[in-house]
Amino acid sequence: MVASLNSNGGGGHSEYYKFLIYGRTGWIGGLLGKLCTEQGIDYEYGAGRLENRAQIEEDIARVKPSHVFNAAGVTGRPNVDWCESHKVDTIRANVVGTLTLADVCKQHNLLLVNYATGCIFEYDEDHPLGSGIGFKEEDTPNFFGSYYSRTKAMVEELLKEFDNVCTLRVRMPITGDLTNPRNFITKITRYEKVVNIPNSMTILDELLPISIEMGKRNLRGIWNFTNPGVVSHNEILDMYKKYVDPSFTYKNFTLEEQAKVIVAARSNNELDASKLQNEFPHMLSIKDSLIKYVFEPNKKVTNF
Ligand SMILES: NC(=O)c1ccc[n+]([C@@H]2O[C@H](COP(=O)([O-])OP(=O)(O)OC[C@H]3O[C@@H](n4cnc5c(N)ncnc54)[C@H](OP(=O)(O)O)[C@@H]3O)[C@@H](O)[C@H]2O)c1
Repeated sequence: MVASLNSNGGGGHSEYYKFLIYGRTGWIGGLLGKLCTEQGIDYEYGAGRLENRAQIEEDIARVKPSHVFNAAGVTGRPNVDWCESHKVDTIRANVVGTLTLADVCKQHNLLLVNYATGCIFEYDEDHPLGSGIGFKEEDTPNFFGSYYSRTKAMVEELLKEFDNVCTLRVRMPITGDLTNPRNFITKITRYEKVVNIPNSMTILDELLPISIEMGKRNLRGIWNFTNPGVVSHNEILDMYKKYVDPSFTYKNFTLEEQAKVIVAARSNNELDASKLQNEFPHMLSIKDSLIKYVFEPNKKVTNF
């Protein structure tokens, strides 16, 4: 039986799963494929470009998926500043592409699990830094400091109308692989100077398996896809020093100083993860998840 939107959901053992995944060459897409292999889930990567409707149709006809996962999109290289000078390319992939995929999936009655971003909010008067009041799923994006974030906010708004889409707001993704330059921890250990602001973050080792389960449960709508709570740059770097490299040092700078070395502003926020936690009560807080999935496995220091 195909676990399409017509099924009763539930993810029972009798369900047949075949995932069609976009983002084969990407970080999250690559991890997702590995995870499916480990879990014995049948999957294939999409060959089409997101904005090419005919190619997406071909992928669906070939793979006959039960679910579609989208980890494709433009993030910019070396970072999101790239999107400021490549606006049409950014629209093509992140807006036209994501909407085309969602629409084709809708016409085939397929659930689309979409790895989106939570970098569409910034702390404000109603959600002040340090208050513990996070943005909820129904809140309207308030961060438009980068073109990347603007396209992501636009598409999130439009995807709300698609009842076959599960939007996952990922933030500052982290894994236990500290050699990967995409890992938020690797990035901040290599920067000359870092700001020090508490943020919601996504521990992929813990949350990517949850996203697969969300697909199986046929969950839709918007989800803050971060571990509960916040952690600051300095707290992470202090853990790095404690567990991995006692000789490590770092320097802070202010947001104003940071603005001089980047093109587009970066979002800093807390997302309220209670909706996800209610669905997955065993999910760890951000600091506990960091210790379990990142720092314990990478521990080089034993005398504390
Ligand atoms: N990494 C982060 O910090 C972060 C944070 C929050 C949210 N996210 C979101 O999570 C998603 C995946 O992120 P990631 O870090 O894994 O990205 P990534 O490593 O940059 O990979 C992006 C993938 O998308 C594919 N792609 C780009 N444009 C495409 C198009 N028009 N059609 C088909 N495939 C296309 C790329 O393939 P080609 O090489 O063939 O173009 C690549 O496989 C993105 O939507 C991103 O916005 C990422």
